[in-house]
Amino acid sequence: MDFALTEEQRLIRETARDVADGFIAPRAAEADHLRKFPEEQMRKLAELGFCGILVPESLGGAGLGNLELTLVVEEVNRACASTGVTLSVHNSLCSGPILRFGSESQKKRYLPRLARGEIWGAYALSEPGSGSDAAALACRAVRKGDRYFLTGTKRFITTGGRAGVIVLMARTDTSHKQKGISTFLVEPAFKGFSVGRKDEKMGIRGSETVDLVLEDCEVPAENRLGDEGQGFTIAMNTLDGGRIGIAAQAIGISQACLDSSIKYAKERHQFGQPIADFQAIQWKLADMAAAIHAARLLMWRAAWLRDRGEPHTTEAAMAKLVASQAANRIAKDAVQVFGGAGYTCEFPVERFFRDARITELYEGTTEVQRLVIARSLLK
Ligand code: CAA
Repeated sequence: MDFALTEEQRLIRETARDVADGFIAPRAAEADHLRKFPEEQMRKLAELGFCGILVPESLGGAGLGNLELTLVVEEVNRACASTGVTLSVHNSLCSGPILRFGSESQKKRYLPRLARGEIWGAYALSEPGSGSDAAALACRAVRKGDRYFLTGTKRFITTGGRAGVIVLMARTDTSHKQKGISTFLVEPAFKGFSVGRKDEKMGIRGSETVDLVLEDCEVPAENRLGDEGQGFTIAMNTLDGGRIGIAAQAIGISQACLDSSIKYAKERHQFGQPIADFQAIQWKLADMAAAIHAARLLMWRAAWLRDRGEPHTTEAAMAKLVASQAANRIAKDAVQVFGGAGYTCEFPVERFFRDARITELYEGTTEVQRLVIARSLLK
């Protein structure tokens, strides 16, 4: 399985595995039950350089690529999906576009602090009226002199209430759908910015999901990311990377389900033998393992293509589609292996089952991934 990884990449994965097992996993149930933002977990990851994986060393980051990011994000999600999504969004949806599309001064202003974990990053595309049809967003940005004034509501924003910088899409031109969108780097201290309602969720309860309310929010023109009208392209390109991150999340959750199921199947006795001796259990474990390996290879390839600067939109969508569907099947089967015990909070598989569900929804639903793949087949 490790044939594609260098010695350095294996070491990075080992480091992530150690912190996931030793620090993040013991705090995962608490983050879930108390809906507690994984602040100390994120700080620990920052100490190891994992909050600036893509950021060049000259700007205080680790200077690594998307493949390394998948290794870390998978390990963290194996321990705690709330920490995992917070980390993925921070690296791929916030630092990522600043790095790709930012001016030198924007990079210098935000990336070192994001890499050090002094501020957390967020990404705001969705709105109450625009989810899958992202380009239908209505949040308005009107330029007056050297400022833009933003008005609207952004919905389902991961880490939105704690972020020091938010990569936010708003409409600068109402006469074009996709090409009327621009991207802004919004700080919470900007006048007219406030945090709205917080969502109670089925899973990933330790991660924060909020509305952001913009009422004539004053954004300096120098905080526009890229050109006017480039915002949709920036949003989509960023999601190509983010979707690889959600594949890593789904695979991390799946691996946790498999590991827990193997352990329990060996320990649990029924009819005078470990349930691992029953073929009904063995087949579930075998199917889980095969699906995890297949999804991981798709994910690694998509990340590798992104790192090489080659087209990867379809590959990222395929990785997310396959990994997230697998995670939902695997989490369901893991609960089945545990039987009634799997339905209780005594074992983590009920949390894995709830956490897996979101991977088919955010950063593009399963249906959107199919649409992206089908369009590339039929063009
Ligand atoms: N990279 C670069 N450019 C892209 C692109 C990509 N991946 N995908 C599309 N574009 C460009 C196209 O080339 C096109 O430009 P031209 O006109 O110059 O050719 C333009 O964008 C419009 O493309 P489409 O016609 O494909 O646009 P569309 O309106 O039909 O939308 C869609 C396509 C795939 C459905 C898109 O709206 C989409 O991805 N929807 C899902 C949104 C989503 O994933 N939201 C997630 C929210 S964030 C989140 O969940 C984070 C979190 O909390 C964890």
